[in-house]
Amino acid sequence: MSSATTNIESVLHEERVFPPPAEFSERAHVGSMEELEALRREARESPEAFWGRMAEGELHWFRKWDAVLKWEPPHAEWFVGGRINISYNCLDRHLQTWRRNKAAIIWEGEPGEQRTLTYGQLHREVARFANVLKRAGVERGDRVALYMPLIPELAIAMLACARVGAPHSVIFGGFAAQAIIDRVNDAGCKLVVTADGGFRRGSEVRLKDTVDEALKQTPSVKGCIVVQRTGSRVSMEAGRDYWWHEVIQTVADECPAEELDSEHPLYILYTSGTTGKPKGILHTTAGYLLQAHLTTKWVFDLREEDVYWCTADIGWVTGHSYVVYGPLSNGATVLMYEGAPNYPEPDRFWDIIQRHRVNVFYTAPTAIRAFIKWGEHWPLRHDLSSLRLLGTVGEPINPEAWMWYREIIGKAKCPIVDTWWQTETGAILISPLPGATPTKPGSATRPLPGVEAAVMSKTGQEAGPNEGGYLVIKRPWPSMLRTIWGDDERYRKQYWSEIDGVYFAGDGARQDEDGYFWIMGRVDDVINVSGHRLGTMEVESALVSHEAVAEAAVVGRPDELKGQGIVAFVTLEGERRATDELKEELRRHVAREIGALARPDEIRFADALPKTRSGKIMRRLLREIASSGGAVRGDTTTLEDFSVLERLRVQEEE
Ligand code: WTA
Repeated sequence: MSSATTNIESVLHEERVFPPPAEFSERAHVGSMEELEALRREARESPEAFWGRMAEGELHWFRKWDAVLKWEPPHAEWFVGGRINISYNCLDRHLQTWRRNKAAIIWEGEPGEQRTLTYGQLHREVARFANVLKRAGVERGDRVALYMPLIPELAIAMLACARVGAPHSVIFGGFAAQAIIDRVNDAGCKLVVTADGGFRRGSEVRLKDTVDEALKQTPSVKGCIVVQRTGSRVSMEAGRDYWWHEVIQTVADECPAEELDSEHPLYILYTSGTTGKPKGILHTTAGYLLQAHLTTKWVFDLREEDVYWCTADIGWVTGHSYVVYGPLSNGATVLMYEGAPNYPEPDRFWDIIQRHRVNVFYTAPTAIRAFIKWGEHWPLRHDLSSLRLLGTVGEPINPEAWMWYREIIGKAKCPIVDTWWQTETGAILISPLPGATPTKPGSATRPLPGVEAAVMSKTGQEAGPNEGGYLVIKRPWPSMLRTIWGDDERYRKQYWSEIDGVYFAGDGARQDEDGYFWIMGRVDDVINVSGHRLGTMEVESALVSHEAVAEAAVVGRPDELKGQGIVAFVTLEGERRATDELKEELRRHVAREIGALARPDEIRFADALPKTRSGKIMRRLLREIASSGGAVRGDTTTLEDFSVLERLRVQEEE
């Protein structure tokens, strides 16, 4: 990288501060800044004693560890010598308490049917499916692929895998056959669990057909278990395919949890890098559970009587840590919803919150921007008064979207937790604690106790206040990834070699004068204009703060004079017309909000932006369109809607 690209310029200014409401703090697990600082201090002064104390107090162990941490950079082992089982921690330990008959999962299908599983019932289903796994020849250490809709059986299958010590690899149900082939072969999975289909936006997503296609090219797979979800016709291959509801009848409903080593692999989850094949992020047992458990308790401030809803699909890490493992380990009541937020109407989420009296709601900025675009009359027609806490994750959230979330959904009374973390980190690392931390719209605030985050230059110098740089983590943490499955070299290179001795998150960030972190997004989403690096997100925030703009994506394109020029793809609010006057106005608006440096060279109106299935804007594609005149050569397999790309290209040719 040239010296011109080593500084990241941060230009977002945000002055609003919201202290935690007193009523909230009074009942919170961590109810004041003093308490939070005391925890931070304890963790900083003796990290191992801190994590040891947490592990002892919060989890059930078959055998206590001999050492809290063995750190041979870049490889960490946590709670060395301990024996533990996550499924036991999420289920069995609650059965010895009144939670036995508490709702663990309240599930709603997209067509509207509902199921509730108590902890006792969930335990029984998990034990049965664990026995099915064993009968199918799955042994400790064998990998199992789960390609399923968002139904309780997905959580059951994950917990059953954890119970017998078979690492699972959940493959998002929106992926196509090739993605299954790549992932199943990379991990060498022995078994695939799927369903006939699932429902999304009113139509059936036919999963088994896709699996059939994939299994032609996956030699390691010996069997396939199929949940009957939609009831549509599927083909079942004799000797390979079995119906879940049939095999479950043939086994006992008791299955003791295996006493696993703390470092036993729990799951592999594939995530895309900027180039090349997806990386299989490996998480192990004890450290992962500890941090997923603790962050769920602290950040979402769970109370026994809460209905907790994280809208993420379980195919992503957020669903692993904050739909399944974190909340169940805490004995929470978890709401699960199978389908789309706009089915049958754009108020499905608000309808669910009203009917189930949801208290804690955790979603993504991309969803919030969609709600804004659909209009506030949808949430306003529902009673959302049960909500007491709101969360967001996945991307930087623009201050304007944050304010909308606070006012329209939270009625200015719910704290918002903007949680920064990654598939690789396993659990939330930077976030407010809602009863303690004053929040600023657009900032994930400060690292949680035990997390030593910093902003550095490429050469490892810590940045000063408001100086942009790279987000790094300076010490190993319990839920960190252990390696990239089958590619330890890539693990070293990608995360531990960019800056000497620290974990390189791949995000640009700055810390303000209060030490608050402002995440600017991936460093590959950074544009360099005249030697100044700008977070694309900040330009987008400025655009979105204009009343005509619904959504914006900003990319760089080569520019002879400035290094890179800025191209903004913009979708407009409902009735707004795309005119040249509006283009000019938006360019001026950005210049006004951020500075002339950030004024887009070109604005393109689009009716939709290309997104991944998890809702992230695929800036890489836009970058190619912006710089190459329409041709897109890179990988488009994770694109949700191909026609968007077509329409953008056509516009190019006009
Ligand atoms: C981004 C999702 C700003 C970031 C849990 C990170 C965020 C990537 C935030 C990881 C946030 C996630 N503010 N950016 N609160 N949360 N990100 O692996 O760029 O799907 O590196 O994990 O999302 O995405 P992943």
